[in-house]
Amino acid sequence: MMKKTILCCLFLLSFVSATFSQTSTGVLQAGTPKSTISRFIYGHFAEHLGRCIYDGFYVGEKNTAIPNTAGVRNDVVAALRKLKVPVLRWPGGCFADTYHWKDGIGPKAKRPKMVNVWWGGVTEDNSFGTHDFLNMCELIGAEPYLAANIGSGTVQDVADWVNYVNFPGESPMTNLRKANGRSKPWNVRFWGVGNEAWGCGGNMKPDYYSDLYRKYATFMSDWSNTSHIFRVASGANSADYNWTETLMKNIPLHMVEGVALHHYSVINWSKKGDAVNYSEDEYFKTMQQALFMDSLVQHHSAIMDKYDPQKKVALVVDEWGGWYDVEKGSNPGFLYQQNTMRDAMIAGTTLNIFNNHSDRVRMANLAQAINVLQAVILTKGNKMILTPTYHVMEMYNVHQDARLLPLTIRSGDYVVSGQKLPAVSGSASVDSLGRTHVSLVNIDAQKEQTVSLQVEGGKYSTLTGRILQSGKLQDYNSFENPAKIQPAVFNGATLAGGALNVKLPPFSVVVLEMK
Ligand code: AHR
Repeated sequence: MMKKTILCCLFLLSFVSATFSQTSTGVLQAGTPKSTISRFIYGHFAEHLGRCIYDGFYVGEKNTAIPNTAGVRNDVVAALRKLKVPVLRWPGGCFADTYHWKDGIGPKAKRPKMVNVWWGGVTEDNSFGTHDFLNMCELIGAEPYLAANIGSGTVQDVADWVNYVNFPGESPMTNLRKANGRSKPWNVRFWGVGNEAWGCGGNMKPDYYSDLYRKYATFMSDWSNTSHIFRVASGANSADYNWTETLMKNIPLHMVEGVALHHYSVINWSKKGDAVNYSEDEYFKTMQQALFMDSLVQHHSAIMDKYDPQKKVALVVDEWGGWYDVEKGSNPGFLYQQNTMRDAMIAGTTLNIFNNHSDRVRMANLAQAINVLQAVILTKGNKMILTPTYHVMEMYNVHQDARLLPLTIRSGDYVVSGQKLPAVSGSASVDSLGRTHVSLVNIDAQKEQTVSLQVEGGKYSTLTGRILQSGKLQDYNSFENPAKIQPAVFNGATLAGGALNVKLPPFSVVVLEMK
C-alpha cells in the first residue's frame, strides 16, 4: 500500500513539473569575444507627439511648480541618466518631415506656431526647439540624433541646420546660433535623412527616395564626409526587403553610414488590442511579432552584406516597440498606453536580438521615451513613474560597449493554441573590466524554465543576478503603485563544474554577472 502511494506521488510530481517547468540547454562561449555591442543599440526616441515632449520632457520654465532645468524636468533627467541613454532621436517620426527647424530658434514669444497634422492636429508653439533639445541631451548625457526634414523642407534648410549646430567657424548660420546664446557648436554626429519616406515622409518609391537621399546627403557634408557625420537613410517598413535592396544598390557606400528599419510589435493594425487587459492569446501574438525582429534583422543584413561585405554601413532600427490601442479617454492622436510585463518581454527579447546581431545592428531607438507607445517613463502632473520596460533597459545597460559572447540556446517551446515560440532567449557579453553578463528571458506565461548552459572558456569565482518579474503578466506600475514591478536580487542561478544552471520563472527577465 505504502509503495503504491509513493509511486503515485512520484508520478504526480513528474506530471506537475512537466506541466509547470521545462528544461532548456545551451552553450556560452565565454572565451571568444566577438563584435562590440554598440551602446547606441540602447537608444531612445522623442517625437513631438502627444505628451512626449510637452509634459513629458519639457514643462517650460514659467508657470510650473515641477522642478526643472531650463524647462526640462529634473526627475526625468535623473531617471534617464541612470538608464545611461546613449542617444536620443528627435523631432520625429512623421513630425520630422513637417518640421521647420528655423521656427524653433530665437526668442520663444516670437516663434511661429504650426499645426501638428500627424498627431492630434494640436497647435505646436515651437517653444521646444533645437537649442532646447541639444542642451537637454547634454544634461542627460546622450548624443543627439536629428531627423532632418526632406519631405517638406529644402536642401538648403537641411544644410543650414547642419551648419548651425556643427560649424565652429564664422558663417551666417553660426552668427545666428551665437546671437541665440550658443557660441560653441554641439557637434551633432547622427542625422536621419527623412523618416519613413515610403509613408508619412512622402509616400516615395525606393528608387526616387535613393536619388533624393543622395542629393540631401551631398549637401549635408562634402565628398569625403570630412565633417564625419553619420547619415541614416530612411529604411524599410518591416519586411520590405526590396526597399533595402534598392537603397543599397543605388547609394554609394561613401555616402551613407546607416540604413534604418522600423518594426513595431503590433497584433493587427486595425485592432491592436488593449495595453493592459489582454488575453494570453494576444500576448502570444505580440511576442510572435517581437521575435520576428530576428528574421528581419537577418534578412536585411544579408541584403546589406551583398553590397557591403565589410559591414561599414550600420543597420539602424530607429523605431521599435509594442503598439496597442490608446488608453481609454486619452486623445487617439497621442498614442498614450500603459506598459505591462508583456512590454518587459518585448524589451528583453528584442535587446537580445540586437546584441546577438551587433556586427550589423549598431543603433536602435525604442519608440518612444515618455508617454508615447512603449515608453520607459510615464508622467502625470508632477508625478513620474518608471515602466517595466525602463527596468529591463536599465538591467541590460551592462552590455553597452561590451564584447558579444556567443550564446546558443536550445529552448523549450512556449505553446499557445497549437502554435509555438522558443520560450527562452538570451545574449551575453564581456565588458572592459572582464565582467561577463548573461541576460535571459523566459516569455512562457505559464512555465518556469530551467536553463542549463555549458560554459566554455571562462573562469569565475562570483555569480550575482537581478530579476524582473511579477505575479501577473498584465501587471504594471501605476501612479498609485509606482514600485509594484522593480528589479530584485536573483538567487536562482548556480555555477559549478563549468555548468551555469538558471531557474527562470514564467515571464521573467534575468541578468547575471560573473566575475
Ligand atoms: O512612433 C510613432 C510613429 O510611428 C512615427 O512618427 C512614425 O515614424 C511611425 O510610423
